[in-house]
Amino acid sequence: MRSTSKSCHMIILFSFILCMSQVPFPALSATEKCNPNDKKVLLQIKQAWNNPYQLASWDPNTDCCDWYVVKCDSKTHRIVQFDLFDAEISGQIPEAIGSLPSLQFLNMRDLTDVSGPIPKSIANLTNLNFLRLSYLNLTGPVPTFLSQLKKLTFLDVSFNDLTGSIPSSLSQLQNLDALRLEGNQLTGSIPDSFGTFTGKVPDLDLSENQLTGPVPRSLGALSFSNLDFHGNQLSGDISFLFGTNKALEIADFSSNKLAFDLTNVAFPQSLTSLDLSHNMITGSLPQGLSQLNLQYLNVSYNILCGKIPVGGKLQSFDSTSYLPNKCLCGAPLPSCT
Ligand SMILES: *[C@@H]1O[C@H](CO)[C@@H](O)[C@H](O)[C@H]1NC(C)=O
Ligand SMILES: *[C@@H]1O[C@H](CO)[C@@H](O)[C@H](O)[C@H]1NC(C)=O
Ligand SMILES: *[C@@H]1O[C@H](CO)[C@@H](O)[C@H](O)[C@H]1NC(C)=O
Repeated sequence: MRSTSKSCHMIILFSFILCMSQVPFPALSATEKCNPNDKKVLLQIKQAWNNPYQLASWDPNTDCCDWYVVKCDSKTHRIVQFDLFDAEISGQIPEAIGSLPSLQFLNMRDLTDVSGPIPKSIANLTNLNFLRLSYLNLTGPVPTFLSQLKKLTFLDVSFNDLTGSIPSSLSQLQNLDALRLEGNQLTGSIPDSFGTFTGKVPDLDLSENQLTGPVPRSLGALSFSNLDFHGNQLSGDISFLFGTNKALEIADFSSNKLAFDLTNVAFPQSLTSLDLSHNMITGSLPQGLSQLNLQYLNVSYNILCGKIPVGGKLQSFDSTSYLPNKCLCGAPLPSCT
């Protein structure tokens, strides 16, 4: 009896000491800035990805504001940045990512084996201004909910295996500087709504998809600076995207099924690079091209005819900028007969 009671006391005393010994670790908790919810979420992400080497610094016993890949806001100490690229990660994008409510910058690029859809929880990240999920192996649609992320200035889901059509609601993003959807398997046409971006006029890269139909006339109402639609199956006329009142600088419409007469198209003075190669464009090269400060021009693989206008940089381009065509002639090609 006595000895039992004694060992009981010993156990109680021992537990007390053990318990006290937990407290003085506040070396961490007293100075840890990291928000405990954010930390929990990050550890969920690490676990969902099977503790990858790239997240080795994510040690539960350290302050998550000191971890690699993420950054805390200096005042609120909430996670505001998640920046992971060129890493060996496999699995899906964890839904938990949507539980980092202060996130402003989310970059996942070039991760070896990240597949599955863009998670719905990303719709919760309404503070995001930068979203890049690129060079992954994401499938499924470009989600409509992305248009709820009103603060986005940069949206890039390029080089994945995304399918379906482009959500027309993306034009509701008023702060967008650039929209990059290139290198997917998107089908359907360019939304009419892309002529009604109500705030900024973003740079659009829709290249290397399977987009069909004519480019909507509505896009002529806006003044884009950079348009890259190359490598689709777009048809018809795009001359309304040009015009001397526009601010177009770099335009790549190559490798489509565009068919229109180029003869009377007026180009904006701002244009520095124009690729119209591999289409079914007819007519001749407009004289106005010689008035531009073009750094790059390619009109090869069309059905153009007539004399290359003389002036500007037009004679300095390689003959492959012009050939083959139906019957273009004059420098740098052989003279017209
Ligand atoms: C996103 O927000 C909704 C509604 O506020 C909530 O029900 C859901 O759990 C959130 N998802 C994540 C992953 O945070
Ligand atoms: C994943 O995507 C990369 C390019 O982003 C590609 O090289 C690779 O083959 C893809 N992997 C699979 C399994 O589809
Ligand atoms: C013009 O485009 C064609 C077809 O894409 C290509 O073969 C050629 O090299 C290009 N020329 C120049 C100067 O880039």
